[in-house]
Amino acid sequence: MKAAVITGVGQVEVTTIEDPTPGPRDVVVAVEGCGICGTDLHILQGEFAPTLPIVPGHEFAGTVVEIGSQVTELAIGDRVAADPSLFCGECHYCRQGRGNLCERWNAIGVSVPGGAAEYCTAPVANCVKLPDHVRTADAALIEPLSCTVRGFDVLQAKVGDHYLIYGAGTMGLMNLELAKRAGAASVDIVDLNPNRLETARTLGVSAAVTSADELDRPRGWEIVIDCTGVVAAIQDGLDRVAKAGTFLQFGVSDENAVATWKPFKIYNQEIRIIGSMAVLNSYERAADLFAAGVLDPDIMISDRLPLDSYPQAMDQFKAGIGRKIQVNPNPSAA
Ligand SMILES: NC(=O)c1ccc[n+]([C@@H]2O[C@H](COP(=O)([O-])OP(=O)(O)OC[C@H]3O[C@@H](n4cnc5c(N)ncnc54)[C@H](O)[C@@H]3O)[C@@H](O)[C@H]2O)c1
Ligand SMILES: [Zn+2]
Ligand SMILES: [Zn+2]
Repeated sequence: MKAAVITGVGQVEVTTIEDPTPGPRDVVVAVEGCGICGTDLHILQGEFAPTLPIVPGHEFAGTVVEIGSQVTELAIGDRVAADPSLFCGECHYCRQGRGNLCERWNAIGVSVPGGAAEYCTAPVANCVKLPDHVRTADAALIEPLSCTVRGFDVLQAKVGDHYLIYGAGTMGLMNLELAKRAGAASVDIVDLNPNRLETARTLGVSAAVTSADELDRPRGWEIVIDCTGVVAAIQDGLDRVAKAGTFLQFGVSDENAVATWKPFKIYNQEIRIIGSMAVLNSYERAADLFAAGVLDPDIMISDRLPLDSYPQAMDQFKAGIGRKIQVNPNPSAA
């Protein structure tokens, strides 16, 4: 089959590799949509991957074309999206129900071959069947949405909270959509890129600005979410959390990046600073939210490219042009 392969640091090519064979409880999916995200770039840049070469792509959906000998829940022809998380189920953290912190954490498209290929294997336990009205390739958006749902699980926001989101990339926009559903009194969004602010306005936002200085909220925001991973944004956001408010570190910074906060303010104003990492028991709920129309795929997905264009798609993502960029290895019949 044809697949994008990251062969070494900074090296990605579309080449021919062996077709996957399913284990007893696996299905093989003919991939129709595979999204590109920051993690793929981290793998390409050599910052995050157990071993190379690897077929990237942890955000994918497609049609089942082969099932393992012990699969009864799905059949050939079913359209599915798959949670890429592969938790061991046995370690200290898995036994506490914290599989996203698994000591032997693996994921499809990170440590085992992913969806940037004509075919990809996934455990049947990780698949959700798509309802008729959901277009197959669009369902690749369920994975990033499931990370956002995890973020909201740790947020514990209240109806009527005011939100400030840094970053209007796909993750910032998904956080915006969930905040609206979660009963936000207002959602303000900050980004340096005017095109991205324009999309936020299209989706409906209280304010979309290049600096939070332009906003008038002297008491600060109950919820501040970083969706940039950029220290300048994080630092700015930490100072704008209201008393008793919460700062969510959703963006992924460089491992060695440092931001500072005032311990007195954290104590005196009862501020929470929390993180959220990938997916935890949130994939099915994200699939339900997606089916309910929480995201508009035609706004969220800016580019749908052939698999052959994977290296260019990575360059485009790196340059911050567009929003969610997909490759479509098997163009949909639907
Ligand atoms: N926590 C998780 O589970 C999880 C899951 C997926 C992605 N992420 C992370 O979320 C972040 C956002 O992902 P994305 O796909 O939307 O990325 P993206 O690169 O498309 O968007 C980031 C946005 O931040 C903006 N930005 C950069 N510096 C800024 C600053 N100083 N002030 C305001 N805006 C600034 C950029 O212009 C860009 O629009 C990334 O760090 C990604 O790795 C986290
Ligand atoms: Zn991702
Ligand atoms: Zn584990």
